Amino acid sequence: MYKIVNKRALNKDMTWMEIEAPYVARSAKPGQFIILRTDEYGERIPLTMAGYNREAGTVTIIFQAIGRTTMLLNQLEEGDSLVDVVGPLGKPTHMEGLKRVCVVGGGTGNALAYGLVKGLHANGIEVDMVAGFKNKDLVILEDEFKAISKNVYMLTDDGSYGEKMFTTVKMEELIEKNGKDYYDEIIVVGPPIMMKFCCQITKKYDIPTVVSLTAYMVDGTGMCGGCRVIVGGENKFVCVDGPEFDGQLVDWDEIIKRNGFYKEQEAHDAAHVCRLTGGVRYND
Ligand SMILES: Cc1cc2nc3c(=O)[nH]c(=O)nc-3n(C[C@H](O)[C@H](O)[C@H](O)COP(=O)(O)OP(=O)(O)OC[C@H]3O[C@@H](n4cnc5c(N)ncnc54)[C@H](O)[C@@H]3O)c2cc1C
Ligand code: FES
Repeated sequence: MYKIVNKRALNKDMTWMEIEAPYVARSAKPGQFIILRTDEYGERIPLTMAGYNREAGTVTIIFQAIGRTTMLLNQLEEGDSLVDVVGPLGKPTHMEGLKRVCVVGGGTGNALAYGLVKGLHANGIEVDMVAGFKNKDLVILEDEFKAISKNVYMLTDDGSYGEKMFTTVKMEELIEKNGKDYYDEIIVVGPPIMMKFCCQITKKYDIPTVVSLTAYMVDGTGMCGGCRVIVGGENKFVCVDGPEFDGQLVDWDEIIKRNGFYKEQEAHDAAHVCRLTGGVRYND
């Protein structure tokens, strides 16, 4: 069993959780993820490691309670345990040869980006962080990003916090201001449509661009094919070949189409999870 040793709410949707998982923590690297189950009948869900502490034997996740499993996870408290934590999975963030990087996070993507920005900082790589959110209520990790980045640009779509601007616009503004050779790489983590448009912009300037993909996963071992994406015209599996890929080579339209595939089933599964009993009432 994997005990929850720390839990705190970052905002109304996002939760920070530290879990005892010494074997995972021992070999974890930035950019990797875990797959967990809350209970023995539970679904397996992938979550990026926002951090790990080898001495304490813990890993940290930051997740949005968006559907059935993440809502059940969010009901657990310090002292409760998860039945499974498998990892570390996926390839770590590639950092060799990098000196200066711009990281662009959109919404929940900022939670996924945090662990990798920490990794870049720990390796002496300078980071300009562009963190975009829909509105003020959804803003997370500002102080944390400030502690590990050279510059942090906080943006909201509606202007209720930071600058009123989309991440794509700020990213292009920084490229224009600093010159196209300023960043060795741009890393984009967010909704597929945002990553697609960021990649179209960076292609114009010929800047290497890495994206972190969050395809639907089942086994996390490359066997089931659930997380297949097309990169450079070839089938790749996000769980073993990713989650990070060359953004210029990703077939975005295929990803966006596949993401809509399970909408009906999810609407059914995103039933109401009772906060008192943990019971689930499905939508009709
Ligand atoms: C490698 C990887 C790392 C991830 N890291 C994080 C993380 O650090 N923090 C975090 O909050 N989430 C992360 N996700 C997404 C997370 O796995 C899903 O939100 C979760 O599986 C939803 O499960 P659910 O049963 O609660 O919701 P469901 O009922 O299954 O889905 C609810 C909603 O979430 C969307 N969704 C479900 N699965 C995914 C997915 N894989 N990618 C994008 N949208 C999805 C659905 O389209 C639906 O709209 C990651 C996904 C992957 C593949
Ligand atoms: S999750 Fe099954 S192949 Fe990746």
